[in-house]
Amino acid sequence: MVVVGLPLSTKDRWIVDEKQFRVKLACVSWPSHLGTLVPEGLHKKPLDVLSKKITSLGFNCVRLTWPVAMVTNSSYFTLTVESSFKNLRLNQGFSGIKANNPQFLKLTVIQAFQTVVQNLGHNKVMVILDNHISMPGWCCSRTDGNGFFGDQYFDPQVWIQALTKMAIMFKSTKNVVGMSLRNELRGMKQNIPDWYRYMTEGAEAVHRANQNVLVILSGLEFDINLGFLNSHPVKLSFTGKLVFEVHQYSFSMGDAWIRGNPNDVCGSFQDGFWGNAGYLLQRGFPLFISEFGGDLRETNVGDNRYFPCMFGVLADLDLDWAWWSFQGSYYWRDNLQDPEEVYGVVDKNWNEIRNPKFMEKIYAIQIQHQGPSNHDKGPYQMMFHPLSGLCINATYLSDPIRLASCKDAEKWEYTPEKAIMVKYSQFCLQAVGLDMSPRLATDCNVKPNAKWEKISNSGMHISTTLENGVRVCLDADKNGLLITSACKCLGGDINCEPASQWFKIIKHHLYIN
Ligand SMILES: *[C@@H]1O[C@H](CO)[C@@H](O)[C@H](O)[C@H]1NC(C)=O
Repeated sequence: MVVVGLPLSTKDRWIVDEKQFRVKLACVSWPSHLGTLVPEGLHKKPLDVLSKKITSLGFNCVRLTWPVAMVTNSSYFTLTVESSFKNLRLNQGFSGIKANNPQFLKLTVIQAFQTVVQNLGHNKVMVILDNHISMPGWCCSRTDGNGFFGDQYFDPQVWIQALTKMAIMFKSTKNVVGMSLRNELRGMKQNIPDWYRYMTEGAEAVHRANQNVLVILSGLEFDINLGFLNSHPVKLSFTGKLVFEVHQYSFSMGDAWIRGNPNDVCGSFQDGFWGNAGYLLQRGFPLFISEFGGDLRETNVGDNRYFPCMFGVLADLDLDWAWWSFQGSYYWRDNLQDPEEVYGVVDKNWNEIRNPKFMEKIYAIQIQHQGPSNHDKGPYQMMFHPLSGLCINATYLSDPIRLASCKDAEKWEYTPEKAIMVKYSQFCLQAVGLDMSPRLATDCNVKPNAKWEKISNSGMHISTTLENGVRVCLDADKNGLLITSACKCLGGDINCEPASQWFKIIKHHLYIN
């Protein structure tokens, strides 16, 4: 992954480099906003090992979080990493840093932050500085005093000072490509007029101080709502730098994923997402899904249902994103030392990948499918199976059709006549029987069993009728073999899991402008 011509800017809905070629942000969050004010994990592995872990997992970018107080409260200006851990009596963290990153102990917390940014740069990793909170600590609740402009710890003028300082501090640090102005606005004080007032002031202040960075604005209600911009666009003095960000977890919809029929919930999720944020793409703004994620042990029913729906949306819209999160543990959270983070891509020791199979899904959405590029490719379509993170492949025409990595999977074309053709060939997908592998055939437009409809509210069931009139859906069995089986959970049932039958037909089109 190469950091190409920085700085970045925007062109229509794309983030682009200096040559106006798209750069897709495939980021992972790395917190540095908790009580120690030190990027997590330095007690487990040497910094360079951590940076290389990030690149080896295919991420090209880190969303690095920081609290306002780091640069506005003078008591932190001289605070060393050593004192920070000693003051909090974090013996485990202290001895871990001493063992793995001893050079950090005498650095101030700001120098430690800069050192991490710099090392990511050496490893060609882009950084988005995310102002996560005002007071150092775990985020976010409605009543923590950090939620909205005017809250106890959220003085807009102090915030603007902090943004300005950070913008200046990293002005000549090339791999710092963006600044997120504030994480998850929330709480009783939330209101739209203040959003416009302060977000505009913050955006102008950052751009005045540093014209290299993308200016990234978040929405209301824990950053799930940017719908209000539909009627009143933001007015700024500059162009080509503005990006919007939105968060999306399974719990962003309460317990809907657990209580509802997964097809119905996925349908309403997609509608809601479009109305709250997705529509901004059509207005010509990049949209950065700056937090999404879930329990990588795959034991949470809501998360397990949300994941394939979410990954389908991310691949289909080819969004920029940041997985929450990198860390396998924290120095100190909720008064615990070294608690585990089950959303983290690395395990508690920051050593192994927590869930290697799950990473297929993340790899699938790292692929750039659309946008201005230095070469032409496509247009064609890919048949993405978000549950596995794989795509339908059919390279060897005689073999049964299987799922394979989306990086080199088959090019398809879903025609207006509803045939699923292997692109540039006369072959199409034809159902053979219940629980049997479909085949590639040539009599594509005459057979009803070669005519595929998108059904169910998720829009991800791809269905046809067999010669005997029985309706079947595309499915993938446990071994990654493509089959057609009885369609699952089309109506009402809340206890069935349809996701093996979810496919997203996504567009692949890179083009030279
Ligand atoms: C600055 O930080 C110190 C030490 O953590 C804290 O006691 C103090 O309340 C902070 N001051 C402000 C204005 O937030």
